[in-house]
Amino acid sequence: MSSRNKDLAFILEDFSKPSWLGSVSGHGAFDVIVSGFAIHHQTDRRKREIYKEIFDLLSPGGLFLNTEHVASPSKWLEKVFDEYFIDSIYEYHRAMDPKEKRARIAREYYKSPGSSADILTPVDRQCSWLRR
Ligand SMILES: C[S@@+](CC[C@H](N)C(=O)[O-])C[C@H]1O[C@@H](n2cnc3c(N)ncnc32)[C@H](O)[C@@H]1O
Repeated sequence: MSSRNKDLAFILEDFSKPSWLGSVSGHGAFDVIVSGFAIHHQTDRRKREIYKEIFDLLSPGGLFLNTEHVASPSKWLEKVFDEYFIDSIYEYHRAMDPKEKRARIAREYYKSPGSSADILTPVDRQCSWLRR
């Protein structure tokens, strides 16, 4: 599905299969392609294919900005990330309720299950695919 004016087109597509390129590639080449927290639902094999498809859609010197949920390379780094994240959630809640407890926020955070749709891959592995 697509609607288009001179400068802007909204296209609804599913990038889990290469067929998404059919409705997008005619609008390129692109100077910038942005993805936000979306590609981590794909298998690693499909992630690599998508990165190649995105590379082929970019104009020379174009940018791919990918904000993603990734796997930590070690348990230690995962813990460091989790604790900073809890600090930040805690500060947010404490601004609204000065009686809020960090321990309560941490309990809730560690209790919440990750999404079963997540397929998290370390960032360095994904960067090496992107470089290739
Ligand atoms: C967690 S939301 C992130 C939303 C927004 N990009 C952001 O950063 O706040 C994930 C988004 O990825 C989209 N998405 C996930 N899998 C997709 C797929 N196979 N094809 C197209 N979009 C997909 C979802 O529709 C959703 O909008």
